[in-house]
Amino acid sequence: MVADAKILSIRRCATARLSEEAKRIVSATTPAFVATASKNGRPNVSPKGSFKVIDDEHVAFAEIASPNTIANIRENPQVEVLVFNPDTWGGCRIRGRAEILESGDLVESFRAQFAPMKMRVRSVVKIAVEEVVMMPPMKAGSKK
Ligand SMILES: Cc1cc2nc3c(=O)[nH]c(=O)nc-3n(C[C@H](O)[C@H](O)[C@H](O)COP(=O)(O)O)c2cc1C
Repeated sequence: MVADAKILSIRRCATARLSEEAKRIVSATTPAFVATASKNGRPNVSPKGSFKVIDDEHVAFAEIASPNTIANIRENPQVEVLVFNPDTWGGCRIRGRAEILESGDLVESFRAQFAPMKMRVRSVVKIAVEEVVMMPPMKAGSKK
């Protein structure tokens, strides 16, 4: 409890694991904005409404219509994700290493989630978390 309070009081906090607070923010905030770069450094950022926590060390999103993101990840797996709540001006940033999964339990669970919406999940991008930067709320009157 004391440790948590201390961590939250620091503006930038690097960790390779998602804290309970970071997981709560990711689960409550959509879409997340996924930034990638090609091998030559051409940047791309786009919203991913399917973004979610898998466990303390992994997040993931469904590839439904993400040609630029996928092309960049194939060339360069380093990604950064902005999870930002416009109501509080708080959130977190997650940096990590992405892999593209085309089969397996995680892919099937995303396919089952989006099938009722008639959305075809081509693959799943699973991100191993390497750094989490917490962004405490900046808007006046917002609670942590
Ligand atoms: C609010 C919002 C949420 C989205 N969520 C997803 C998503 O979870 N997965 C996906 O593949 N595309 C999603 N898209 C579509 C892509 O972000 C969109 O096609 C984008 O322009 C191209 O993606 P790219 O930059 O990755 O190529 C979403 C679009 C919007 C507007």
